[in-house]
Amino acid sequence: MPFITFNIQRYNPDSGRMPGKQEFKLNVAPGQTILDCLNYIKETLDASLAFRSSCRMGICGSCAMMINGFPRLACQTQVLSLGKDVITIEPLPNYPLIKDLVVDLTPLFDRHRRVKPYLITSPGKGTDAPREYLQTAQEQEQYLQFAYCLKCGICLAACPTVATDDEFLGPQALTQAYRYNTDTRDAGRGERIKIVDSSHGVWRCHMAGACAEACPKGVDPALALQLLKRDILRGRTHPQAAIAPPVTEVRKRSNIPRPPARTVKASGQAGKK
Ligand code: FES
Repeated sequence: MPFITFNIQRYNPDSGRMPGKQEFKLNVAPGQTILDCLNYIKETLDASLAFRSSCRMGICGSCAMMINGFPRLACQTQVLSLGKDVITIEPLPNYPLIKDLVVDLTPLFDRHRRVKPYLITSPGKGTDAPREYLQTAQEQEQYLQFAYCLKCGICLAACPTVATDDEFLGPQALTQAYRYNTDTRDAGRGERIKIVDSSHGVWRCHMAGACAEACPKGVDPALALQLLKRDILRGRTHPQAAIAPPVTEVRKRSNIPRPPARTVKASGQAGKK
């Protein structure tokens, strides 16, 4: 098993010291992820190491950190795939640092909240609609990739504009503005355009493309922002989804096959004849 050196940034706000690196050396087996190694370090070498994780399968977005200078999910990054003997792990930039590898994601969630990331429905529709909306697969395709956002914060860490403009809405929130504007069930386009069509909104994006390169789910925020600019300039809207017609007839299915016979008695049936 290869011997790998991990240089991990440590910072304790109570110590009064500046952040610095601490070295750990581990034997790493094929398939082991950065998160596996951090868990090992915490469990066996230094219990004071602070980092976030939850799902361990690239779903929750909580283990985002800088790994050899690039923002990644620790649970999705296999150590040996990096092809380096020395691995540097640091907290995400562009966020206030709390401790070691833990940053304060409030700037991400504040920006996200500002673009109204939910379906705004027409009067008489939405939650008070009597039935579901009709949306075709093609209409869903228009926004689907942007709905895969994990809210891990990696795109804001990668964005050079976020690094220099605290008020910039950033790639995550602007992508979600496009995602909801493009959803045929939504009628809130006008409200969101007022928020994003501003000097610290979509027009502040310089199209560096770092967000799209870094996104661990393959979402392309750089594309969403260009499409959002296009829609603002052209005043583009989409047709509103119709509500499904009432069900007039309930047909009973008679050809449902019977389930196979049980091989063991169901709970509570033991002893019954
Ligand atoms: Fe959930 Fe890594 S622990 S995405």
